[in-house]
Amino acid sequence: MKPLLKTLTETFAPSGHEDAVRKVILKEVRPLADEVSVDALGNLIVRKKPAKGAKNPKKIMLAAHMDEIGVIVSHIDKKGFVRFTNVGGTFGRYTLGARVRFLNGVSGVVGYDRLEQVDNILPINKMYIDVGASSKENCPVKVGDVAAFERSYIEMGDRLIAKSMDDRSGVVVLIETLRSIKSTPNDLYFVFTTQEEVGVRGAGAAAFGIDPDIGIAIDVTPTGDTPASLKMVMELGKGPCVKFRDVGMVSDPRVVDWMINTAEKARIPYQREVLLIGSTDAREIQISRAGVMAGALSIPCRYVHSASEMVDYNDLKNSVKLLAAMLSKSVSF
Ligand code: CO
Ligand code: ZN
Repeated sequence: MKPLLKTLTETFAPSGHEDAVRKVILKEVRPLADEVSVDALGNLIVRKKPAKGAKNPKKIMLAAHMDEIGVIVSHIDKKGFVRFTNVGGTFGRYTLGARVRFLNGVSGVVGYDRLEQVDNILPINKMYIDVGASSKENCPVKVGDVAAFERSYIEMGDRLIAKSMDDRSGVVVLIETLRSIKSTPNDLYFVFTTQEEVGVRGAGAAAFGIDPDIGIAIDVTPTGDTPASLKMVMELGKGPCVKFRDVGMVSDPRVVDWMINTAEKARIPYQREVLLIGSTDAREIQISRAGVMAGALSIPCRYVHSASEMVDYNDLKNSVKLLAAMLSKSVSF
């Protein structure tokens, strides 16, 4: 799982430009799938059909988004300095001093106008990208070009750090879950969604097309385990988090119970999650068509939306175990 996570997190795929990462995922899932398709928004939909003779199989949609936050060029000045805006939740506090990589391979360094106060956190409209150009004419990027953070994957014991752990760690969990399920009584749709970071857009379209009975998002969740963090119970290394509520949704209690009962029966550690910031693809799945029973399984993650998002390897392994246990049996609600 670790080499694949390294490859996934070192691939550049800001929202709306997911081709490169979809290619990586496709190579892994094709041999494991009964059907594979890509829809108009670029969602990669991987179906694993119910075993022969399964009675009333439930259609279950699992979603992990493959896009990541990034930046987009909005203006280039006479000296070739690039002004930019956000693609998704790209914050000034993490962008300053960062390196970015454009899809055409060009690297850039983020600089800033002038600090009135040395400790100020600047908004990104006071920043620019220096791509090594000296004029507008020799600037190697154009208005509309997109970039993502450039940062390599590292390991510190069980702590894994990279850009785009949000949500490539969810992507790797879904791939490994698919790999570990030999047979299922359910009709499973593993969906690698697009454009989550710009408003959970891919998942809504995919859910409309699939029309599932149950939907589960697999995404990261910020934790409450760092100095002076928000008062939240989620911690790194204490198991996958069963989402009860975030800013965009209230999980279906039947889905919550299903997760918790399965975890307890299989003795897999889990945590209860009430998230005070952000939401996931599950929000959009829940309200698609006439409504879907939805929930989310979250991977605890520190420094979300920075270039050094940190997860714990044990949480990834336990997420795979829990999902595989849930999906291998028929669902009773
Ligand atoms: Co995110
Ligand atoms: Zn995410």
